[in-house]
Amino acid sequence: MVDIQRVGILTSGGDSPGMNAGIRAVVRTALYHKLEVFGIRRGYQGMIEGDIFQMQTTDVSNIIQRGGTILKTARSKDFLTEKGRRIAFEQLKKYSINALVLIGGDGTFRGAVQFFKEYTIPAIGLPGTIDKDLSGTDFTIGFDTAVNTAVEAIDKIRDTAEAHDRLFIVELMGRDAGYIALNSGIACGAEDILIPEVVTDIETVLQRIDDDERRKKNVHIIVVAEGDDFGGANELQQILQNRFPDLETRATILGHIQRGGSPSFADRVLASRLGHAAIQALLLGKTQMMAGVINGEVCFTPFEKVVKENAVISKDILEMIRVLAT
Ligand code: F6P
Repeated sequence: MVDIQRVGILTSGGDSPGMNAGIRAVVRTALYHKLEVFGIRRGYQGMIEGDIFQMQTTDVSNIIQRGGTILKTARSKDFLTEKGRRIAFEQLKKYSINALVLIGGDGTFRGAVQFFKEYTIPAIGLPGTIDKDLSGTDFTIGFDTAVNTAVEAIDKIRDTAEAHDRLFIVELMGRDAGYIALNSGIACGAEDILIPEVVTDIETVLQRIDDDERRKKNVHIIVVAEGDDFGGANELQQILQNRFPDLETRATILGHIQRGGSPSFADRVLASRLGHAAIQALLLGKTQMMAGVINGEVCFTPFEKVVKENAVISKDILEMIRVLAT
């Protein structure tokens, strides 16, 4: 066992449902092992500002079912500077914090990579993002809940689309990653799914709508990720209106509703497993790695690797979407 006495924990970047379950697991596992735990509010920004408080087991009572994060979160611009990171490290020393658990997404781990080039302190990460845009894990905390929220919304949209014979474009979150759009689109039987990982050929999209029109297939749902190379729902609607002036189209941007709400059972279980594993890993001397789940097993991947690899969407999935939409 490694000599760790005081663990700091923070959530950073966009919040995701299940972060609280992760905090609870980290705090309770750390206390079980007789460690002291310090909550750092508002991610790296709170680290810089010394917004740090000691946590007890009751601080994490009744939070497993709550969305958001009791530690609050932020996207810290100051942490991008050398000065900000130096002050952050000084704050950790002030509180004698000698290990860290970081819960966040792509930006959190990019920040961590830079920080640990400059300062040495054991740290384990948990994948907390609705986007699922990290390597080293099959799922991220919050992704399942976000997709379920999107699916529920699109199902409702399909009802009204059908009633009016309208084409709907639904824009879902994912600036750089299309996993939410891809999975929600499949689950809702969308006629088209446009994601940043696949170059959008707008002529093919228009052709398909034209074919559907001829076949009198009146309901057409296009799911688009906000980061699609062609643009979002509004841009797409404009093009469609110009090409098909008689077709009634509507655009819905689902937005931050996808980030909130009570976490699904899958996100609660994932967060609990990874939070527990994070403290065990620190005690075994692991550092600068993110805990994830691959094929059902907990595993650890270095921070640099979780943010480096670009996602590839399998050709089989893309082919399946095409076939099922006919
Ligand atoms: O946290 C991930 C995410 O929800 C992305 O899907 C989205 O592009 C971004 O955050 C929105 O960020 P903000 O809430 O800061 O506008």
